[in-house]
Amino acid sequence: MNIIKRIEELKLIPVVVIENPENAYNLGKTLLNVKLPIVEVTFRTKYAVDSLSILKKKYPNMIVGAGTVLKIEQVKAASNTGADFIVSPGFNPKIVDYCVENKILIIPGVNTPTMVEWALERGLKVVKFFPANLSGGTEMLKTLAGPYPEMRFVPTGGINSENLIAYLKLENVIACGGSWIVKKDLISSGKFEKIAELTKAAISLIKSEIR
Ligand code: 3PG
Repeated sequence: MNIIKRIEELKLIPVVVIENPENAYNLGKTLLNVKLPIVEVTFRTKYAVDSLSILKKKYPNMIVGAGTVLKIEQVKAASNTGADFIVSPGFNPKIVDYCVENKILIIPGVNTPTMVEWALERGLKVVKFFPANLSGGTEMLKTLAGPYPEMRFVPTGGINSENLIAYLKLENVIACGGSWIVKKDLISSGKFEKIAELTKAAISLIKSEIR
């Protein structure tokens, strides 16, 4: 499967913090039920690896990424679970180079022209734009399209139902990442119906406004 193509089709990556790996079952089920078969599990708790494993084993059709990856060890651990892609908040050349050398899909965070050039130099076609809102938002992305027309972005950080469409309308944006539909507290307190409701609302917004 071409993961980037699939991300581009789905247009939204729910970014999650899982505080109890048991919740990965219901989270996966909920996202699949509302037809958003993708999730990025962040390494912000010690349960990331267990949660990635559960999601990959239980829901083989789901695209499962590992986020907030700050160490090569985390790349290795995530890859061992079968994770489909790696996301990092910043551009750590050691991590990016390790992924490129080992043919592991990485979407590293960038928010300056210099970082875009680091990514281009390594042959990357897609990067995360983080923190999107605080780094100039849609205006910054329009400006980056000038010198770097071939680079594609996944804006993340401050995305919500108010600004999602403005980002997705940009030609150099393939998808947005965000936690607003899958907030940590909703997962921890088992409010999966609320997660389904927020996710469905985001999907209908995308369907009505984009293509
Ligand atoms: C991330 O790591 O990608 C962000 O924490 C997600 O940003 P958000 O919580 O503002 O959606």
